[in-house]
Amino acid sequence: MNPDIATLFLNPDRNLGMELVRATEAAAIRAVPFIGRGDKLAADGAAVDAMRTFLGTVNFDGVVVIGEGEKDHAPMLFNGEHVGNGNGPAADIAVDPIDGTSLTAAGRQNALSMIAVADRGSMLDASTVFYMRKIATGAEGIGVVDIRKPIGENIRALAKAKGKPVSEITVAVLDRPRHVELVEEIRAAGAGTRMLLDGDVAGSINAAMYGTRVDMCAGIGGSPEGVVTACAMKALGGMIQTILHPLDDDQRQRGLDAGLKFDHVYDADGLVASENTYFVATGVTDGALVAGVRRLGPIIRTESIVLRSHSGTIRRVVADHQASKWLDNTAVD
Ligand code: FBP
Repeated sequence: MNPDIATLFLNPDRNLGMELVRATEAAAIRAVPFIGRGDKLAADGAAVDAMRTFLGTVNFDGVVVIGEGEKDHAPMLFNGEHVGNGNGPAADIAVDPIDGTSLTAAGRQNALSMIAVADRGSMLDASTVFYMRKIATGAEGIGVVDIRKPIGENIRALAKAKGKPVSEITVAVLDRPRHVELVEEIRAAGAGTRMLLDGDVAGSINAAMYGTRVDMCAGIGGSPEGVVTACAMKALGGMIQTILHPLDDDQRQRGLDAGLKFDHVYDADGLVASENTYFVATGVTDGALVAGVRRLGPIIRTESIVLRSHSGTIRRVVADHQASKWLDNTAVD
């Protein structure tokens, strides 16, 4: 047995992710009454409150480094806020109570509640610059794909590394006007696109997991989501590279003041220095990664994934919650 595996088996330690998943489950359940009701802030607010309450029970001393929401004035778990019961490991935490608030409000698929955790002081605080350019793939892309190269070149290199024709490569891209050229280049290279209404974290995770229909996720998306993705990639063994994308001089200056580097490639290590990361996500609405919350008679069923870099295990957690204990504030239907 190789020494790492021996250590893992002889000294199994606690999996913080199994505690954190209760917070994403709670956030997803509390968001349900707002699915398809057209109010994304109300959905996010309910998810934030539930997540904060449940995080308070988790045995760790967490500091929110990324409280998603600043770019669109959503309710937040504030940057610098302490979460957890204060016992246990000191950690950085990135929260996205709903990734896909618009999807939730519209009643569309692929909305997730998510949390990423890493050792204290290890997550990049990119909160001053709202967007980054990103490229993410599975392990085959490591040392092969380079964000500074044209997308066509990266697609050909990835196809070769995966041992399949370019025509079988699918690239997930957020469906935004800013990506018109990128999409043209992807198709000109001979690959297909999977256009995402929202949710490039799930897009990147799908690119890094086996048995999905996506090989790569590319384009400009949220910086917080980039750091969250990096935590997941460390557990999945995939690759992510990002370059900060300031929208104006003010953002660039704020980024510089915060010590951020522009025209610099932040890879998974640059985004999260720690090798000890956790990523948990629960489906709010149905999606390619996990099913959304559903009501089955007296039961509310949630589906989550729990990733952990230490072991590389991908857990799928299906939980049946007693609806009667949640019904006061939820009209899960
Ligand atoms: P929220 O639902 O949390 O706002 O994020 C959804 C999302 O699609 C992210 O997955 C993505 O990184 C970002 O928004 C893209 O930003 P924008 O919608 O402004 O293009």
